[in-house]
Amino acid sequence: MVELCGVHLRGPVLNGSGTYDAIAARRVFGDELLERFPFDCFVSKTITLAPRQGNPPPRLWETPAGLINSIGLPNKGLAGFLAEDLPMLAELPVPLCVSVMGFDHGELRELVSTVGARDEVSLIELNFSCPNVETGLIMGADPAETARAVEALRPLTEKPLIVKLTPNATEPAAVARAAEAAGADAVSLINTLKGMALHPQTRDPWLGGTTGGVSGPAVRAIALEQVHSVSKAVQLPVIGMGGIASGRDAADFLAAGATCIAVGTESFRDPTAGARVAAELEALSRKEREFSPGGVR
Ligand SMILES: Cc1cc2nc3c(=O)[nH]c(=O)nc-3n(C[C@H](O)[C@H](O)[C@H](O)COP(=O)(O)O)c2cc1C
Repeated sequence: MVELCGVHLRGPVLNGSGTYDAIAARRVFGDELLERFPFDCFVSKTITLAPRQGNPPPRLWETPAGLINSIGLPNKGLAGFLAEDLPMLAELPVPLCVSVMGFDHGELRELVSTVGARDEVSLIELNFSCPNVETGLIMGADPAETARAVEALRPLTEKPLIVKLTPNATEPAAVARAAEAAGADAVSLINTLKGMALHPQTRDPWLGGTTGGVSGPAVRAIALEQVHSVSKAVQLPVIGMGGIASGRDAADFLAAGATCIAVGTESFRDPTAGARVAAELEALSRKEREFSPGGVR
């Protein structure tokens, strides 16, 4: 058992937001999915206040060790999510974390107060990897912007607020400290790193959105360093992710200071990756307890 912000989880393995469609998986695997759900807590795809179409295709580019996505947050919007998706996500056998993104404080307030009022929801993740249209700054890239947003949201719900940090910041640890001082309950990292690919013949941008987010094993070393430095900077629980594909990767992130870890891109290659990582981690921990290795804090 793991406790994350007062929520009891059967283990430490979450999914990265947007990398596992539990509703589609239920359609394919039926109730068997509920019996063998691969994660200990389910994090929804990020929702926004208004519905979004997402970016034009192509939306993916495979790199030698991961991928670049330019999905552009397609989603049904808050009302569509509550009416259509939430009832199905509430049937999952694990606590639910809903990821939200707002383009100004008004949108964020409406998202957090509405989602926070729902009994089906255990945790809220704030995806701050977007510009605040009022200031033009990426909310999660700037400590003061992050603090202002968390301070505005903190009084609106008693549900734990997890701030998802962007790696595209000068000093993620400074952003984490600002989030902690403003009342966040946990931080999660990393989100994708900004990247780009060109069409092999025309040399035009390959992705419909021109640039995208790099994820997968290619970002693991960067993620591990950021999890380490953020864990040293704050007392909050840290949810570590970025290229985790095995129990050993997960063990590294836990040793670097994470309380929980999330599996993202690996689930596209292997939809049962969450369960496999959990089983490998458990076997490894059992073996390593004999040698009692230390962490790297
Ligand atoms: C296709 C795709 C869609 C994603 N969508 C979201 C999203 O909606 N919200 C979010 O906070 N992160 C999103 N992410 C980022 C992941 O949750 C995760 O932070 C990142 O990919 C690093 O982990 P990984 O290397 O294990 O994938 C997305 C990543 C991918 C690959």
